[in-house]
Amino acid sequence: MKTKHLIYLLGLPLMIYTCSSDSPDDVIPDPKPDPTSEITYDDNIKSIMSANCTQCHGAPTSQGAPFSLTTFTQVKNRVDVIISRMNNSANPMPPAGLLSTDVRAMVKQWKDDGLLEN
Ligand code: HEC
Repeated sequence: MKTKHLIYLLGLPLMIYTCSSDSPDDVIPDPKPDPTSEITYDDNIKSIMSANCTQCHGAPTSQGAPFSLTTFTQVKNRVDVIISRMNNSANPMPPAGLLSTDVRAMVKQWKDDGLLEN
């Protein structure tokens, strides 16, 4: 068999595989660390808030932040405006700039999963 044919035979399944795993569902990166488990406040969101938000949105608040984001209830009650500002590149939270796509997707996923505490 000519090498050309061999490449075609080997390449076609690979192409099909690559294309099929590139469906529109995959555009939003899977939340980390475990894409198969649901996002919860205790496991995922609390650490995002304390790493990126509570230096201003702490208890007490500082640097002009209008409210605390240190408890499950506080974060849950403001989830829509939190998601909106975390993804607002013109006026982001934190003010220093947008966080990674993964982190932002995780907060969104938390809402989609039903705002679980643990
Ligand atoms: C450096 C301090 C600082 C950090 C860090 C910070 N914020 Fe803020 N945040 C502020 C200040 C000041 C305001 C009020 C002014 C404004 O809305 O821009 C505010 C306002 C907000 C609002 C209210 C928006 C509105 O339209 O009512 C939300 C929601 C918010 N922050 C969420 C967050 C989240 C979530 C994080 C972390 C991912 C975060 N912030 C990190 C200082 C901070």
